[in-house]
Amino acid sequence: MIWEYYNGKILFVTGGTGFIGTAVLYRLLTQATPKHVYVLCRGGFTKAESKWNNMLPVSIANTLTRSKCMTILDGELGDTATMNLPDEDLQMLKRRVHILIHAASSIELKNSLRELSYSVIAPTLCLTKYALKFQNLEKFVFLSSAYVNAHLWKLSESSDVAVQERVYTLDGKSEDIYESAPAIWRELQTNGTSQEYESHDFPWPYAYAKHLAERLILQKASEQNALDKILIIRPSVVGPADEFPYHGFTTSYSTPSTACAAAYAIHPRRKIVLATRCENPDQEATIDEVPVDVVADRLLVHTAVGSSGCVHAVSGEKRRLRLEDWWVAFKNERRLPWHVKPVWTKEDWHSSNLHHIARNFKIIGTSFAFAEDKSDQVADTLTSDDLEHLNLFADRSRPYHHSLIHRRHHIHHLAKQMAKKNKIPACMAGLFCHKGKPPQHHQIQNEKATA
Ligand SMILES: NC(=O)c1ccc[n+]([C@@H]2O[C@H](COP(=O)([O-])OP(=O)(O)OC[C@H]3O[C@@H](n4cnc5c(N)ncnc54)[C@H](OP(=O)(O)O)[C@@H]3O)[C@@H](O)[C@H]2O)c1
Repeated sequence: MIWEYYNGKILFVTGGTGFIGTAVLYRLLTQATPKHVYVLCRGGFTKAESKWNNMLPVSIANTLTRSKCMTILDGELGDTATMNLPDEDLQMLKRRVHILIHAASSIELKNSLRELSYSVIAPTLCLTKYALKFQNLEKFVFLSSAYVNAHLWKLSESSDVAVQERVYTLDGKSEDIYESAPAIWRELQTNGTSQEYESHDFPWPYAYAKHLAERLILQKASEQNALDKILIIRPSVVGPADEFPYHGFTTSYSTPSTACAAAYAIHPRRKIVLATRCENPDQEATIDEVPVDVVADRLLVHTAVGSSGCVHAVSGEKRRLRLEDWWVAFKNERRLPWHVKPVWTKEDWHSSNLHHIARNFKIIGTSFAFAEDKSDQVADTLTSDDLEHLNLFADRSRPYHHSLIHRRHHIHHLAKQMAKKNKIPACMAGLFCHKGKPPQHHQIQNEKATA
């Protein structure tokens, strides 16, 4: 049994109050019996409790807030490994922890590379150096992004770009996977950018920041002969849960396609300008949205079976969505009677002529075929009973529109904010979007069954 691996283990989790971190903690605490879980949270227990109470129905929030085997540590990641924690906590973690899951990060796609070097790269490097000193470290798990390799879109001529579960070098030398990373990191700290970043077309600085962070982690681990202790999980576009903590679990700010649905809903005109190089974008362009519980299970299963290196947490070629299906779901969700049609141009994905959802999200109009061989291989080794109880692969048996119904509250909330920002009358959000139930009002299966 996969979950037995965690019995008696001590974990340290950053970003445990975020979208993915919450799903990981819930899964861990309901399926396994770890000896203890320490969670880093800015604002400590009070903040963690209020975040979970806001994003979850009460019985699920209680599973987290009342757990006897979980301690919330009031600290913050920065450019030192101290995390604002007392020295005795730092020493205790160093002595005791077996598994460190690093899920905390800024997910602000538009932040500058300089900002991201403080909020993503420096904290990740500090944490890696610290974790590699742990006496009992079995795994350091880093949450990266499948789009660390999105620069391949511009390098490839294909309209469906295959991406493997490995590091792609940026200097054209296939032997340098991570050796150059420290020098590039110094260059970035001095200049606020790097030559390799300037000479590649990443959709957002965030994608490059994660790319470099991956290489810095691997370089540090290789120096210490500890590459087998590194697991890099690369989610694509994270979406609502198929199953746990409850079907439809989501948040407003961590599911990019919810923001796209909101922007579509309040668009006052009949056309939205998007960029692509696909000849037939409605059919050829794809969106790889992966349910958050698939991300959590891939992370926990690969850790348990001892996987190392890069692992995609994606829907993959078989389960990703055609852009047309994504778009039709948005249309169905919009309350006003006219439909907004995509108008495709061959312009660059950074072009200022595009609609703001395309300018922010960039990858609308692209198609990536993310490999998931490592998860297929693990699935082959599991018993059918194990597999049946795991969410290793996205469930696409329901139409995509169903997933938007669960997000109505969040779409409405984001639409109100977007209307304000774009000086559209706030009442438009009410006219264009359904209201939906806030998360606290969702009933989970068990509650219904026992009612
Ligand atoms: N969501 C996606 O679509 C997606 C896709 C690909 C990869 N990822 C990656 O997956 C990871 C988790 O993402 P998510 O969607 O769960 O993000 P999220 O919901 O925004 O959660 C981020 C978490 O990180 C914490 N955090 C941020 N900066 C911190 C700092 N300086 N010190 C301590 N904690 C800090 C936040 O704590 P506070 O509550 O204190 O703010 C929050 O708990 C990230 O590494 C992200 O890059 C996400």
